Amino acid sequence: MARQGFNQASYKGCAKAAITTADIGVKRLSSPEAMRMQAGQPSNFQLVVNVGDRASSASPQACLEQLMTQDDPRKDYWNGQYLEYWRSRVAEAGAGTSDVVAGDPNTEGDEVYNRVFDRYGFEPGRLLEVGCAWGRMFPLYKARNLKITGLDISEAMIGAARESWEADDSIEGLVVSPAEELPFPDESFDNLACLAVLDATRQDEALTEFLRVVRPGGRLYVTGKNDLYHADDTEALAAEIGARKKNHPNFFTDTKELLEVMSRQGHTLVGQHYFERRGDFAAFHSIETPRLPFYEYLLVFERGESYARVPKISATHSKTFQNQ
Ligand SMILES: C[S@@+](CC[C@H](N)C(=O)[O-])C[C@H]1O[C@@H](n2cnc3c(N)ncnc32)[C@H](O)[C@@H]1O
Repeated sequence: MARQGFNQASYKGCAKAAITTADIGVKRLSSPEAMRMQAGQPSNFQLVVNVGDRASSASPQACLEQLMTQDDPRKDYWNGQYLEYWRSRVAEAGAGTSDVVAGDPNTEGDEVYNRVFDRYGFEPGRLLEVGCAWGRMFPLYKARNLKITGLDISEAMIGAARESWEADDSIEGLVVSPAEELPFPDESFDNLACLAVLDATRQDEALTEFLRVVRPGGRLYVTGKNDLYHADDTEALAAEIGARKKNHPNFFTDTKELLEVMSRQGHTLVGQHYFERRGDFAAFHSIETPRLPFYEYLLVFERGESYARVPKISATHSKTFQNQ
């Protein structure tokens, strides 16, 4: 049976699901139904998938998202507990701003990112934000005339992003997928931003994917946590211990190794900011040469002509924690 409106080959995760073409059907939609389908998936057809006794009928995008993430235990955390936590913090801060938590000494707001984006800029064209949540950063990209694709491992987060952003002209797609397996062709973006997310990912896999989907000369913005911070940074240590108790996925980067890997592969370091203690990022109190120990980093790269697989550069415990 013919399949319409999407390219299965670009969705690698589908191979994981035990479905066959016999399980897949296509039904023609009436116009209003078709109109409600996701932006970027223009189609008058709906994909119908039957998996064993679980028969489902959904848009191609929704089916693929379900198949891609159903075996990933991390999504339960990001769909449930974390969404509630993030929502309650936003509610505390008051609505009407794209800042996550206005005035929170540990959360960097729009002003910090505006400064960084103004200083290092973007390539004109398309931007992929990995771990976009509900799109609090989208107004900043939109103000810079970028075409935005938002991606997040959490269906709940992307659902919230769709509510606010689906109809906006700047949005090219809102996709549920893990950072470690991006459902996009090679070199398909001019820019990529991964802000306050890399520390939750398997960093070697995620960075390899980032380099694959950004074109040579494209910009990459990444933030993360360093694997050695000050032993007397009690807030940082409490955050690491607290995250572990909540089963919050947490990876600490060997930042020196990350910089060496990127340099060896021929990617140019365009900007570097190191935040010595927890809270310094929110205040944009940074140093611009790496000096150990420090807690967080923000790095801006220009992708080189080619890329290779990134080796392991992170660990689930910081050295500071291990030395306690
Ligand atoms: C701390 S929030 C940051 C959200 C957004 N970047 C911001 O600054 O407002 C982390 C986000 O990353 C997402 N996330 C966590 N692990 C991920 C992964 N492996 N792949 C894609 N998204 C992930 C979570 O669902 C969550 O929305």
